[in-house]
Amino acid sequence: MHENLPVEALDERQAQAELERLAKALATHDAAYYQNDAPLISDADYDALRRRNEQIEARFPDLKRADSPSDKIGSAPNAAFGKVEHRVAMLSLGNAFTPDDVREFDTRIRRFLNLEASDVLAFTSEPKIDGLSASLRYEKGVLVRGATRGDGRVGEDITANLKTLPEIPHRLPDGVPDIVEIRGEVYMSGANFAALNERQLAAKAKPFANPRNAAAGSLRQLDTKITAARPLSFFAYTWGEMSALPAETQSGMMDCFAAWGFKVNPAFLRVEHPDDLLAHWADIEAQRAHLGYDIDGMVYKVDRLDYQTRLGFVSRAPRWAIAHKFPAEQAVTKLNNIEIQVGRTGSLTPVAKLAPITVGGVVVSNATLHNGDEIARKDVRIGDTVVVQRAGDVIPQVVKVVLEARLADSQAFVFPTQCPECGSAAVRDVDEDGKADVVTRCTGGLTCPAQARERLKHFVSRAALDIDGLGQKQIDEFWQADMVHTPQDIFTLQARFENNPPAKWLYANGPKDKIGTLKDSVKKLFKAIEARKTVDLDRLIFGLGIRHVGETTARGLARHFGSLEKLMQDVTKISQGDSLLRADLAAVDGFGETLLDSLEAFFSEAKNRESLQALLDAGVRPTPLEAVAQDTPVAGKTIVFTGTLVQMTRAEAKARAETMGAKVVGSISAKTDFLVAGAEAGSKLTKAQELGVTILTEDDWVALATQ
Ligand code: IVH
Repeated sequence: MHENLPVEALDERQAQAELERLAKALATHDAAYYQNDAPLISDADYDALRRRNEQIEARFPDLKRADSPSDKIGSAPNAAFGKVEHRVAMLSLGNAFTPDDVREFDTRIRRFLNLEASDVLAFTSEPKIDGLSASLRYEKGVLVRGATRGDGRVGEDITANLKTLPEIPHRLPDGVPDIVEIRGEVYMSGANFAALNERQLAAKAKPFANPRNAAAGSLRQLDTKITAARPLSFFAYTWGEMSALPAETQSGMMDCFAAWGFKVNPAFLRVEHPDDLLAHWADIEAQRAHLGYDIDGMVYKVDRLDYQTRLGFVSRAPRWAIAHKFPAEQAVTKLNNIEIQVGRTGSLTPVAKLAPITVGGVVVSNATLHNGDEIARKDVRIGDTVVVQRAGDVIPQVVKVVLEARLADSQAFVFPTQCPECGSAAVRDVDEDGKADVVTRCTGGLTCPAQARERLKHFVSRAALDIDGLGQKQIDEFWQADMVHTPQDIFTLQARFENNPPAKWLYANGPKDKIGTLKDSVKKLFKAIEARKTVDLDRLIFGLGIRHVGETTARGLARHFGSLEKLMQDVTKISQGDSLLRADLAAVDGFGETLLDSLEAFFSEAKNRESLQALLDAGVRPTPLEAVAQDTPVAGKTIVFTGTLVQMTRAEAKARAETMGAKVVGSISAKTDFLVAGAEAGSKLTKAQELGVTILTEDDWVALATQ
């Protein structure tokens, strides 16, 4: 241990060991302070640890750890706040980057709604605020709950903190609907951010990296008094559950919000042509630096609410809104190294290790280089000076090399042909035309430890099992301690810990009666793991990390098969050559041959089947998805659409059918319940007649769909 050596006396190896020790110590103290409200050391001692960490990092910037305590803002962990289920999901937005993307947005909507060129399609336009979204629930005009977005379905209860914001009314005027949920962005103005950081420095506390982090850190305080002392603002821009809608347009809703006492953005505008959206975008871009708060683009929404309802959603974003981003901010820095990371599917991703640099208010020290071809195309070499950019939440990228600054002895980068983690050959798949895939993959498969570790991280990620207190960092720790190597190990962890807990998870100091006992954070984790034995089927399927199974497909599979057993049974059947079943499944909307191939590949691995069985044996109980709707005439039925529909577009009809609980497929089989035949229906109609499938005219369908 080198904890007594002055920072100036440390050599590199000692500095690295010290940074590791300090990261661990600070994490322990943070947990004690935030999770248990029971600090183990004095504030002054804590500050001294932090300062030492920062001084070592300043002397050895290259040794700064990925999990450096200096990057952590004083935010409390999720477990500290209660959960709030959003009755109406809080969604994200699709992105537009170019004027063409915006015109395409207009065209897409017109096509979906079947509008004539002469029909007016109005949009609203307003800045996209770079803060945190929050949802405020009012019952009979009284603010009863405030929550963060969380994963969109479940957020954190931060009512007390939100109530301290002067711009959030606690009561709404008489006459508002019984239930009102106002959603908007909590943010900190540039001036308030600068003043807060001055106060932080004066108090020898760490300054915040940018206004967004400052807002997040301020809002997620367990001590409401701290939040109250932080100058936070709020813009309202949308809503969640409403017992009645007070207007028929987005702009009308904003007028109501303003009348109810909320701040809406002064740049809010309603226009009737996409060119006007582009003009507004350019106008606000030009004013961006002088607005007084950070924005990262504009948000456009379809004005008419009846259109919004018809347009609905794709995955997690509305079809009727889009974020038009401002160009990324760039900076120049030195590329110190290129590291190869192994992903859960074995992909080898090169990562640029950079001399830390501030880009758009955030310190960047890693950037993705995507793949070997990209490195070769840009001729990026270790030691080069490079331009990096960051756009919103996107991972920083290396844009290009500053060739004038290249060192004379620089060497082209040679992409590895072996997995750096397990030594197996690393190869590029070649397709039928002999074209090599851009991705180089480790061929170690289930034997490559890096892949297994990354699969575990995916298994516990937010959209999958989402276990409180079990994130990437903890997976790394349990992995290194040989406590967790497979998903099922997570569920047997408690029993093994209770038999023989490793010292790392016992209190080493603190109050006497705690020393040698299991840390509170671990006990909490066990509770969270136990709770996750009951898990939504779609989350479990997504968490398995099957290739080509994203969140949407996982939901589709969960909905179609209803249980893990049925999914496994059917995949086994098609592997054994049941071609009828295969054809049926391939016809299910969103499935297709590629998906079936990868399901087969996954379930044909004995290890994967064993792992699933072990999960079930450990007590994991996947719960089937509720059908979207069960009390509609088409719930659970299989529908095919054919011919030209005139009253709604095919896309709209399909979306409507799915929300009513139906399955929409592309081809007719004996299992089809309804064929909706529009004008000029051809061979599908004939086949449906042959098979005795119920045939609906467009009018029949519209009558059903609007019941
Ligand atoms: S509307 C269903 N309007 O951007 C549409 N979002 O990328 C919901 N945001 O989670 C969002 N300013 O946190 C909307 N004027 C604005 C916004 C805005 C910032 C954030 C919001 C949302 C994220 C989506």
